Amino acid sequence: MNEQALKPGFLSRSVGPLHINLDRQLYSESHVQSFQESQANQRLSSFVKKMFEGGIVNPTEKRPATHWALRASAHVELSSPIDNLVVNGRDELALVRHVQSQMEAFVDEVRSGQYTTPDGVPYESVLHLGIGGSDLGPRLLNDVFSKLEITDKPALEIQFAANVDFHEMKAALAALNPKTTLVIIASKSFSTRETLHNAQHIFKWLDAAGPQYRPKALVAATCKPAKALEFGVDAQRIFEFSESVGGRYSLWGPVSIGIRMVHGNTAFNELLEGAALMDQHVRENKSAQCIPTLLAMSDLYNLDHGVASLLLSPYDSRLSLLSPYLQQLWMESLGKGVDNDGRVLNKPACPILWGDVGTNGQHAFFQMLHQSRIASSVELIAVVHPNHDEVNSHQVLLSHALAQSEAFSVGRLNSEAELNNPDINFRSCPGKRPVQMVFLDALTPYSLGVLLCMWEHRTVALAALQNINPFDQWGVELGKGIAEQLEQCVPPGHASAENPVTAHLISHFLLNAGTRE
Ligand code: F6P
Repeated sequence: MNEQALKPGFLSRSVGPLHINLDRQLYSESHVQSFQESQANQRLSSFVKKMFEGGIVNPTEKRPATHWALRASAHVELSSPIDNLVVNGRDELALVRHVQSQMEAFVDEVRSGQYTTPDGVPYESVLHLGIGGSDLGPRLLNDVFSKLEITDKPALEIQFAANVDFHEMKAALAALNPKTTLVIIASKSFSTRETLHNAQHIFKWLDAAGPQYRPKALVAATCKPAKALEFGVDAQRIFEFSESVGGRYSLWGPVSIGIRMVHGNTAFNELLEGAALMDQHVRENKSAQCIPTLLAMSDLYNLDHGVASLLLSPYDSRLSLLSPYLQQLWMESLGKGVDNDGRVLNKPACPILWGDVGTNGQHAFFQMLHQSRIASSVELIAVVHPNHDEVNSHQVLLSHALAQSEAFSVGRLNSEAELNNPDINFRSCPGKRPVQMVFLDALTPYSLGVLLCMWEHRTVALAALQNINPFDQWGVELGKGIAEQLEQCVPPGHASAENPVTAHLISHFLLNAGTRE
């Protein structure tokens, strides 16, 4: 039986409706104390201060990171150290508040039927075009909000098309009428190949219904308003956000305007208020009390001890899209190879984040986590008060979450003697998986805001502890550049690919499809 390193409750922390427990981590109390005084923690504290002051925290792109300002409307008593946030001569807080009131007004017009189609009837649907940070956040919010009892009833249907794989677009369009559908082009850069390709297809779809439909249907969420204007989006329906808001940190702003349209401004602003609570917690709390810092400290400790996998399993099926969303936030931010001083890293800067809801995961991949030699930390999310009256179902669900937490930590038949006894060791579970428990009082737009903002700050904290940049993503440019060239080589294109294996793959598998010997 494994010895417990930390005494129960030593690392239980709460902020609003979010609670964590880290008692099943593998470090000792002295590690927490020494972390306080560590240089890495000092670096983190000054990084957070600099971020909230609008300092340049994204050195390769010479930008601040101002995603936190998107919660500005909820920061009514913003105790931020600055009155305004001037970036390249522009007051970002003023921009956020202006665009937010523009969005809320337009959303109210759409939901009330005041903003009508060219035929004078209310819009019935929204088609959201976007990918990565311009898709995953809105998709997650819609999935959760549609399973909550929120103030405003859904006023429109929403469909998402992110991929250039036309199967996704085909499925979305099957549910939509071009005469009553608003089209949101969500793209920070307004230059993402998939999104603009899909938009061109949608133009044809709208125009086929009549030339009058496209002008009123287009809405844009971008930091390139001039490009959106050029693309034919009416200036009144271009909702701008700052270059200094990273795509994977942008769900709080205009990219989620479709969620406001479908679920109302009230629920969305509750999400912002929850995030603002977590912002305040981070700004005001010192490391041993600060939840994102404690989680990042644990992540770093586990990385230093060879744990490069983080299983996330929310024991709430309404959070089934949480993993895909967090994968971009976490791995596009922390999946780096060098630090801010250009030093090559000698180990991963983050564990691979993966997972699925519980209890489903128990019947899929938990076996590997219980017995294989793969070292993984485990993070389980439990929602204390469900949105239903089935007390017994929830009792069973929570029992499993707590049982898995204990089993991953304690294990069984893992003493030296038992492990070396071939008659029983096939049942041995080593245990000693670091386990993080997260509890939400209930799942609401507010508590979701607290949770997602916690993950943002945890991501930034783990980066700052390792002196890496969480706000750039130079690695994604490589594949995009090659794909651009290959578009001329893949049938019906017939240019020859430079790379010999790629050339073989095209000629052997694509050109001869169906006639291969
Ligand atoms: O994956 C690369 C990336 O730039 C992400 O960082 C971003 O969220 C996504 O592509 C979409 O970019 P945009 O919002 O500019 O279309």
